[in-house]
Amino acid sequence: MAFDINMIKKVYANVVERVDAARKLTGKPLTLSEKILYSHLWDKTTDKAFVRGKDYVDFAPDRIALQDATAQMALLQFMQAGKSKVAVPTTTHCDHLIQAKNGASMDLQSALNTSNEVFNFLESVSNKYGLGFWKPGAGIIHQVVLENYAFPGGMMIGTDSHTVNAGGLGMVAIGVGGADAVDVMAGMAWELKFPKLIGVKLTGKLSGWTAPKDVILKVAGIVSAKGGTGAIVEYFGEGATSMSCTGKGTICNMGAEIGATTSTFGYDESMERYLRATDRSDVADAANEVKDYLTGDAEVYANPEEYFDQVIEINLSELGPLLNGPFTPDLSTKVGTDMAKAANDNDWPLKVEWGLIGSCTNSSYEDLSRASSIAQQAIDKGIKMKSELGINPGSEQVRFTAARDGIIQIFEKLDAKIFTNACGPCIGQWARYDDPKNAPKNSIVHSFNRNFAKRADGNPNTHAFVASPELTAAIAIAGRLDFNPMTDSLINENGEQVMLDEPTGWELPPKGFAVDDNGYLAPEKDGSHVQIAVKDDSDRLQLLEPFTPLGNNLTGVKLLIKAFGKCTTDHISMAGPWLRYRGHLDNISNNCLIGAVNAFGMKTNFVKNQLTGEFGGVPDTARAYKAAGIKSIVVGDHNYGEGSSREHAAMEPRHLGVAAVLVKSFARIHETNLKKQGMLGLTFNDEADYDLIQEDDTFNFVDLNEFAPDKPLTIEVVHADGSKDMVVTNHTYNQGQIEWYNEGSALNLIKKENA
Ligand code: F3S
Repeated sequence: MAFDINMIKKVYANVVERVDAARKLTGKPLTLSEKILYSHLWDKTTDKAFVRGKDYVDFAPDRIALQDATAQMALLQFMQAGKSKVAVPTTTHCDHLIQAKNGASMDLQSALNTSNEVFNFLESVSNKYGLGFWKPGAGIIHQVVLENYAFPGGMMIGTDSHTVNAGGLGMVAIGVGGADAVDVMAGMAWELKFPKLIGVKLTGKLSGWTAPKDVILKVAGIVSAKGGTGAIVEYFGEGATSMSCTGKGTICNMGAEIGATTSTFGYDESMERYLRATDRSDVADAANEVKDYLTGDAEVYANPEEYFDQVIEINLSELGPLLNGPFTPDLSTKVGTDMAKAANDNDWPLKVEWGLIGSCTNSSYEDLSRASSIAQQAIDKGIKMKSELGINPGSEQVRFTAARDGIIQIFEKLDAKIFTNACGPCIGQWARYDDPKNAPKNSIVHSFNRNFAKRADGNPNTHAFVASPELTAAIAIAGRLDFNPMTDSLINENGEQVMLDEPTGWELPPKGFAVDDNGYLAPEKDGSHVQIAVKDDSDRLQLLEPFTPLGNNLTGVKLLIKAFGKCTTDHISMAGPWLRYRGHLDNISNNCLIGAVNAFGMKTNFVKNQLTGEFGGVPDTARAYKAAGIKSIVVGDHNYGEGSSREHAAMEPRHLGVAAVLVKSFARIHETNLKKQGMLGLTFNDEADYDLIQEDDTFNFVDLNEFAPDKPLTIEVVHADGSKDMVVTNHTYNQGQIEWYNEGSALNLIKKENA
């Protein structure tokens, strides 16, 4: 059995008591988001009502999902924790490392040829430590999670931003960095700032060409790409209950594109139908018993302004189909004349080269069936396709069922490329060009979520527009960005003018889902004998060695780089081609801080080696210090380490011998990641001291032997001319985190406690 009904029943057994207690504690009716948050507190005895947007709270998620790109370092780290099994049900999904080029079978084989050592590693670690493993080709992580694991009222985390998709089945599901997932897998709490709440009231009903995708495209247009930051978006109202469960998933999925912590919907009949259709009637039965606890309180939805930090209202009956883009998912334009004008004003190519349907956002059975109803009309009405069409089914279960029901064949009749059940073009794994950097300006339309430059095909000149699957199909048939299927006709092969009728489709397969091999491998009950497959000479995978504690005697520490201005986790650990080395700490460390601007000389990746006086790249210089047995320090500006939560940005400097990062201020997640790796993350007590730091400085930590919570640390900074400055620094380490430092890393401490 893929999911654990007993675990879900346990959650529901608690929910009544804990939600009632939270209602008393807060003295008010509760939103669904609050119910889920309060019923997943790590400390079950807490008597504190949390302040939204302010308090940091420890939670106990019910499950974890990992995708193949991020799982590598997460699992390598987990292996350091000395545990025999993951503490929380966890699954690994192989979907990101599969290129789309020739079609599913050839592409899958080529992914196996290229990345088999990574897949084998993930499979063996999963088998050993009790994680469920979804093979390459089994499907896209979030579609597979929705079909198998998501459940109303649950809380999950996943090492992918679109983990939020599971909100479609009433979860609070949040994308996190690998380090957070490792903590929870190792049995620790997961910390999150108690989110603010945005309520979206949906009135009316979707009809005609308008789809759930248009709801989130509209929301993105209203609140912008940052509008949801630090908040959970909770949808409610008659419009919400009238939509399918997978449609709700689409809306929650793209909550990531407005920066929301996550999005969710209250439990309703569409979710019950979906649970029963996906062979989880026992979950539906259990949910029905506590259903009032799996949605917001009636008073909240009746007076949302009183209970949410922000309320948005959308009338679905008035909503029309939208196209968002190019280059940002929040630039919303109505189809037809509005788009014609926008394209003309901005010089966007009107001719559409490709329509792509799929990704974790829109690859359900309903999505494929509605898009196929448009494709079928092109066949029936004799309309020649003007663009190429590509399809990525969300899972093998969806693909198999859609093939059984003749849906895939409709696309094939239009010469569509049916790609692997995987991310493919959505994550730049689309071999569209031999030389993408010099490829021509063009437009594409897709049903994915992200459309930043180069995201799909590596071509900076590709203008990608996001739409519903049915609109994507219609625009691909018409081949024009400004096509409005509600008003515009097309000329068929007989020279006749024909219109496309409104899409139709099935919320769920009328004959039920079917699948031959869903691609799931259950772990062995006792995996202790399983050998982990990593070759000694692999350039993609490297087993980790525990970090050595830095100790209390840090003297003679050399400045590695004084970063100037913005220094995000992308500047510290770049993505792009480096993704290949995500599972190999030494190799990926060759990108360490190469994007940061050195305040001396204002160049990137060009710093002074104080031992030789020569200038070189940051990683090489750090390695030279390390080889000489000298620790180094990174100095930075404001909000150092903002951006993604990737743990590589802390692990790489640690690996290269950086002992401390001293900045004006930190992005909190990165600061925590530094602490977890057993490093010092410090801030200037007086920001102006940043200016005291010179290129040839040496740092002596004078009172590290008194490292304690709330006690500043002093550093003697020795300049090249022998003069000295005493710099007072602050930190936010609590006693437990100081133990991480003392042991060399949080994982070392966990391992020690388990020994
Ligand atoms: Fe994959 Fe794209 Fe979703 S990369 S997980 S299909 S956002």
